[in-house]
Amino acid sequence: MHPHLIDLLADPRSRSPLTLEPDAASVDGEITAGFLRSQDGTRYEIREGVARMVPDVDSSVTVDEGATQRSFGAKWAQYEEAEKDHLADFQYRWFDERFGFAGDEEFASFLEGRRAILDAGTGPGLCAARCARLGSAPVVGMDLSESVTAAHRRYADQANLDYIQGDILNPPFAPGTFDLVVADQVLHHTPDCVGAFARMAELVAPGGQIAAYVYRKKPIIRELVDDHVIDLTSRLSFEQCLELSEQLTELGRELSRTEARVTLERGVPLLGIEPGEHDVQRLVYWTMLKCFWNEELGWHQSVLVNYDWYSPVFRSRHTEEEVLGWCSDAGLEVEHLNVIESGISVRASRAR
Ligand SMILES: C[S@@+](CC[C@H](N)C(=O)[O-])C[C@H]1O[C@@H](n2cnc3c(N)ncnc32)[C@H](O)[C@@H]1O
Repeated sequence: MHPHLIDLLADPRSRSPLTLEPDAASVDGEITAGFLRSQDGTRYEIREGVARMVPDVDSSVTVDEGATQRSFGAKWAQYEEAEKDHLADFQYRWFDERFGFAGDEEFASFLEGRRAILDAGTGPGLCAARCARLGSAPVVGMDLSESVTAAHRRYADQANLDYIQGDILNPPFAPGTFDLVVADQVLHHTPDCVGAFARMAELVAPGGQIAAYVYRKKPIIRELVDDHVIDLTSRLSFEQCLELSEQLTELGRELSRTEARVTLERGVPLLGIEPGEHDVQRLVYWTMLKCFWNEELGWHQSVLVNYDWYSPVFRSRHTEEEVLGWCSDAGLEVEHLNVIESGISVRASRAR
């Protein structure tokens, strides 16, 4: 953890400043171990170079007894380092498509002049690492899970980048700390997506922006199947859920490889099935049962996308109207909106 991070951090409960206890250990100017102390004496550990701004996984204070932390921690531990590079290419392209950037160059000029950036729910830390590489502002990648330990190890050489363990619903920052807050594919995994958006919006300084993506409500059969399958999977072990994800990936892959198409004159619009030509795998996927397959991502990452859907504890789905309402309730003006079958991406700004 770089010493400048202390000025950005605050006690997640009181939002008051923190100080570093004197016996902290440092290596090459980085704080590797020690404690941060709040004004009321609460201590937050720095372990393996990462500030831990959340209660213990086993503590009853966590919203779901640590299930989200464990579920995502286990998921990210499945990735080999080389796979993360492949995932990064894919994620960066998809990020740009959804949030309205033409690529590295345009995103870099968007980052220019920003003073502090937060990537909330950073997972393996990819977006935070990209922001730090393309810009000069201090960047913080935050996640509830242990994924930040590996992210820190992987990207620790970037001087303007830090990872912390923190909770979006109890963020360890004062309001208005950041002029860019990214919350990509994460708010819907909290028990209170509306509250999570509001917490993140509060952190946006005047002139700053939030970029968030949340799952979109699906057609009715898919919603009903999701609710029932997710009810089942919430009672499965990690291994059992991974196995189910593999089975669904095989189904998606084999349907996709048939390259079968159907043309429907009428469709079933009430159930979200539009008239016209459909790829059969996409039709099943979007309107009936999530069975993700992407040839470019390959087997392992496709399995983890399915796991992502069926395993984590919370996964709310939302409408465009809801998202626009959250922005307006937070006093933010929408700069860019992208709505696709899977989700809604919004970039919104706070007036200067
Ligand atoms: C689907 S992943 C998205 C990762 C990354 N943002 C991306 O776009 O690839 C969701 C991440 O959100 C994290 N998460 C879930 N609830 C959280 C919370 N309350 N606070 C912080 N992170 C949370 C999970 O641990 C997980 O790493």
